[in-house]
Amino acid sequence: MSSERIPLCASADLLDGGRAVAFDVHYRGQSLRAFAIRYQGGVHAYLNQCTHVAMEMDFKEGHFFDDSGCRLICSTHGALFAPDTGACLGGPARRPLVKVDLSEEGGMVYWHTAPDLQTVAF
Ligand code: FES
Repeated sequence: MSSERIPLCASADLLDGGRAVAFDVHYRGQSLRAFAIRYQGGVHAYLNQCTHVAMEMDFKEGHFFDDSGCRLICSTHGALFAPDTGACLGGPARRPLVKVDLSEEGGMVYWHTAPDLQTVAF
């Protein structure tokens, strides 16, 4: 199955270290939330599923950065992840976040489907 490019939001909606933009995906048979952020100018997205316990990470919707603005934090038990790679940096999680490919062009941000990551059918 080839990759599709899905419009997500305007580039201006993602501020460096700011609130995330949420979107829905179908991943390996499950409907899940994902989130997009901007960090050091680049845009990145991940499934909103902690790799410690499979639950959403933002207690306050759209808030994923810790106080330093340099790490993503799971609000449940404090696992820390790198904003640009999803790598686990500390806390009880051991695996990286599942990354969703994004691209940015002409003032828009797009997410890209993959064989195990599709749009949610309505
Ligand atoms: S569920 Fe995220 S750190 Fe435990």
